[in-house]
Amino acid sequence: MGFLKDKGVIYEPADRVDLGPDSDEVYLQANVKAPRMAGLLVKVFTWFLESPIFGGILLYFLKRNNLIHKLVSFAELQEPPLFEPMHPYNGSEETEVKCVEADLPPPEKVRHVVDCLQSAEDVSESPKPSFRRWTILDYSRAYTSGEITPRMVADRFIAAVRESSNPPLQMSFFINFSVEDIIRQATESTLRYEQGKPLSVLDGIPIAIKDEIDCMPYPTTGGTKWLHKVRHCTEDACCVKRLRLCGAIIVGKTNMHELGAGISGINPHYGATRNPYNSKKITGGSSSGSAAVVAAGLCPVALGVDGGGKLHLSPYFI
Ligand SMILES: *[C@@H]1O[C@H](CO)[C@@H](O)[C@H](O)[C@H]1NC(C)=O
Ligand SMILES: *[C@@H]1O[C@H](CO)[C@@H](O)[C@H](O)[C@H]1NC(C)=O
Repeated sequence: MGFLKDKGVIYEPADRVDLGPDSDEVYLQANVKAPRMAGLLVKVFTWFLESPIFGGILLYFLKRNNLIHKLVSFAELQEPPLFEPMHPYNGSEETEVKCVEADLPPPEKVRHVVDCLQSAEDVSESPKPSFRRWTILDYSRAYTSGEITPRMVADRFIAAVRESSNPPLQMSFFINFSVEDIIRQATESTLRYEQGKPLSVLDGIPIAIKDEIDCMPYPTTGGTKWLHKVRHCTEDACCVKRLRLCGAIIVGKTNMHELGAGISGINPHYGATRNPYNSKKITGGSSSGSAAVVAAGLCPVALGVDGGGKLHLSPYFI
């Protein structure tokens, strides 16, 4: 729609914008016209928006009325280059970095990673605090030595999730978790250790999955009450498949901000995920449940999803 193109705004570089009391630069009071809709109206509006002819025209006016063209689509940023790396890559091998071949089977990849970590771990032995979250290697060693079994961990895990779901805690960690499915996986894993044939260091490790990642046997709600009704979960997502090939126990679907479209983790349908460090506070989001189960020590690792450039770290990954 080039002929309709608005004139964009040229933004001043940040260091030339002074927002002090004497500055002429003021925050723009956005004079936007966005329709407020709910229920049936949203559905009708979406139908128009998705229709090939009306859709384009409607979208153009929506963007124009809400200053998207002016401030985003056609704006010019006169910032110093941001999309170039600060330190040019000179092509030489980074000596500290070990690459794992992409097409190895998942258990092989895990083995390579653990080899790297074991040498790193010896350096960072720290004194034991009173509460210590178990790492993947802690579990793996205790399983291998027979000190504990995946089945014992599963029983404790289920009891802990039940306790944390009920008053007074009501942590709202999970949208769904199936006792039967967890016990089945844990029993299979226990058998593998008994036979001395764990699939990888991840065998028997409880791993929670954010509820926007497909994972059988659970519906993928994305934190909503409707998504799973219009989009059925028919198989595991690739990342879940790989974890299963390594023997991980998938323990359930973690709570999240509805559709991941927000940062508080307050979910009107499945409860606000509480913060294990202070249960009177929320976790933030959107992968609220995944972060909270790792912080609470329920799982050494959980999968989250990055919706808009946020960084997910599971600090106790290995
Ligand atoms: C490339 O980087 C390596 C490692 O930092 C350095 O030793 C080497 O001198 C660099 N080579 C060039 C041509 O800049
Ligand atoms: C939880 O998962 C089961 C299948 O394991 C499904 O039948 C049930 O509807 C799910 N509950 C919610 C709240 O998604």
